[in-house]
Amino acid sequence: MKNNEVKNIWNTNAEFWDKRMGEGNEFHKTLIEPVQLRLLNIKAGDKILDIGCGNGQFARKMAGLGAEVTATDFAEKFIRIAKAKGPKSIKYRVVDATKTADLKKLSGITYDSIVCTMAIMDMEKIAPLIEYLPKLLKKDGKFIFSICHPCFNSGENILAHERDDLEGEVKDKYYIKTRNYTVEKSYLGIGMMGQPRSQYYFHRTVSTILRSFFKNGFVLDAYEEPSFADIEDSLKIFNNVYKNIPPALICRLKIK
Ligand SMILES: C[S@@+](CC[C@H](N)C(=O)[O-])C[C@H]1O[C@@H](n2cnc3c(N)ncnc32)[C@H](O)[C@@H]1O
Repeated sequence: MKNNEVKNIWNTNAEFWDKRMGEGNEFHKTLIEPVQLRLLNIKAGDKILDIGCGNGQFARKMAGLGAEVTATDFAEKFIRIAKAKGPKSIKYRVVDATKTADLKKLSGITYDSIVCTMAIMDMEKIAPLIEYLPKLLKKDGKFIFSICHPCFNSGENILAHERDDLEGEVKDKYYIKTRNYTVEKSYLGIGMMGQPRSQYYFHRTVSTILRSFFKNGFVLDAYEEPSFADIEDSLKIFNNVYKNIPPALICRLKIK
């Protein structure tokens, strides 16, 4: 059981993460936010639950669009940081999404939408959350999640840059070398360069994740794979590699 360690790491990294993430870093603003907002299609007064809200940046975005937001995270430090930023209309709760007893604290209200932004691959267990979600959703409610794309983030991927200058022309090519996609495991990695402690990721295949939703009565009704599509070569190898290769995937699920 790594969960306590996973949580300690997020509490340790929270301040650093908040400074870097702010109200949405480049990755979030370019790849995640536009798709999630389109799939959410927020109407004023929508009740939305945010699972694994971090510093609350996406919760604030949704509240700014008129949603009534409840935002949760298992890292107390993140919840303190998020709460301090306001607005007071957002309700913040410390909830560990791997624990049914914690999720039960959220019952009593049902939500138009539940969102989990870039957090499922950080959770040691996902079955308790997926099993509990139907109890928290209104009829026709939707669950939207984004994750690091498991095909291109298995923990054994190597980002590669190749340069040739054959016949007077310099050509840069970027690749991902991938292996062991189907081997599910946890591993330590770096989410943001310079973060105080490396964090745990829990690699699961796309089919494992979706099967868990299907088993609990969900159907997939939207699937997006955003990438840095039209950028010029960047100084960051990450952006160059993930040009036309999706570093994240985003799903919308509904109860059948
Ligand atoms: C990559 S951050 C994303 C934060 C935020 N959703 C965003 O996009 O800015 C992952 C978040 O998931 C949270 N998290 C990881 N495991 C969790 C769990 N078991 N229960 C609740 N939150 C969890 C972490 O504390 C962290 O805030």
